[in-house]
Amino acid sequence: MLSLKEATSAKHSLAEKMPFNLKMFRGLLSKEAYLMYLYQQLAIFKAIEQVGVPSDSLKREVAVLADISELVAEGISSVKTLPSTIQYETYLKSLSSEGILPHVYLNYLALVFGGQMIKKNVPSSGKMYEFDNKNEAIMAVRQLQKDAWADEANKGFDYLIAIFEELEAHNKA
Ligand code: HEM
Repeated sequence: MLSLKEATSAKHSLAEKMPFNLKMFRGLLSKEAYLMYLYQQLAIFKAIEQVGVPSDSLKREVAVLADISELVAEGISSVKTLPSTIQYETYLKSLSSEGILPHVYLNYLALVFGGQMIKKNVPSSGKMYEFDNKNEAIMAVRQLQKDAWADEANKGFDYLIAIFEELEAHNKA
């Protein structure tokens, strides 16, 4: 059996190369576009944290809200939750505390790894990427992760790719 990382690497490269993500990585997003992205992250993290995360050190809702408040205080505004995000949110809320774990792997390790390179290039102080206890956060996921999560993690990537497409469509308009 392929490792979880190997079995999800094709979708990871697709997600990484989405135009919206490339712009974010290269520091080319406007504050409005980044705020729109933060609203999608907020909906995803709220849904997951409502079902439950294996360690409090992972929780992101408060940090994302702080990043949102920072931009709103500067007078930035954007559309809130997008239809593709509502689909993922609805799906996440239908999962059990065990069923949600592949999505915890996907969305939280994304911040711990790729997120550290992105943090430097986003138009905000990037509290979403800062973990008070990063080792504990990583260990909480690593201790539980199973190669058998691959299909579910890939399903999560499909939802996220749809969200990046919608973000890009708004960003170009
Ligand atoms: C510009 C976008 C992205 C960049 C540059 C990026 C980069 C990276 C890097 C460098 C790693 C560490 C790889 C290693 O251990 O050798 C990583 C891991 C990871 N990324 Fe991304 N990533 C991006 C987007 C995403 C997205 C959108 C997701 C899903 C929400 C994601 C989920 C993950 C996960 C789950 C891991 C951990 C894999 C593992 O070790 O099991 N990444 N990413």
